[in-house]
Amino acid sequence: MAEPRVVRHPLVDVRMTTLRDETTDRATFRAAVRELTAMVVYEAMRDAETRPVGIRTPVAGATGAELAAPPVLVPVLRAGLGMAEAAHAQVPGAVMGFVGVARDEETLRPTPYMASLPGSLAGIPVLVLDPMLATGGSMAHTIDLLVDRGADRVTAVCLVAAPEGVERLAQAHPTVEVVAAALDERLNEHGYIVPGLGDAGDRQFGAM
Ligand code: PRP
Ligand code: URA
Repeated sequence: MAEPRVVRHPLVDVRMTTLRDETTDRATFRAAVRELTAMVVYEAMRDAETRPVGIRTPVAGATGAELAAPPVLVPVLRAGLGMAEAAHAQVPGAVMGFVGVARDEETLRPTPYMASLPGSLAGIPVLVLDPMLATGGSMAHTIDLLVDRGADRVTAVCLVAAPEGVERLAQAHPTVEVVAAALDERLNEHGYIVPGLGDAGDRQFGAM
């Protein structure tokens, strides 16, 4: 089976418990999404290239680092919107694009409703932000749009991933790495991640 990169850290486990707990209120849930996003983006950027930059400290000249290629961030609406600001705080120089896709809860197929993306993404690292990777349909659709624009360095940044979604993505987009805060057991008969956290969009923004 394809393996995602799962962030192993006690603070991730604690925040993930907050997300999973059905008694967590909406504001606390959104805060945990932001905090976990910062941690997962930090891990997703581990191998980012930097280049040296000359600076002065108050004491002496020094060589610092700047990102050689700031990534484009692409939150997947609606639930990925809760990750956008926290990811942007980690990489303030990033350009942000947006993809809107809602899963049809009968067929479990993605229903796209908007895309606002840079025209060319060739050679540019792209981080796709979506808390849930379930069947993988929404993420695969989003990455199709990115590949249409030439993207060849895509990372899927998720909070909870299901093995089914990881596998589907590996088939559809073998070069895409999945970085997640948790890899759960499976999908249930309704396509929900088990044990998961329920509906990530509704828990942040309310049921539509
Ligand atoms: C959720 C989630 C993903 C998708 C995952 O969004 O944020 O985008 O489901 O499911 P999949 O891997 O089976 O496609 P949802 O469609 O509920 O829309 P929302 O973000 O507007 O709540
Ligand atoms: N979308 C969610 O928000 N949660 C799931 O468990 C599956 C899809």
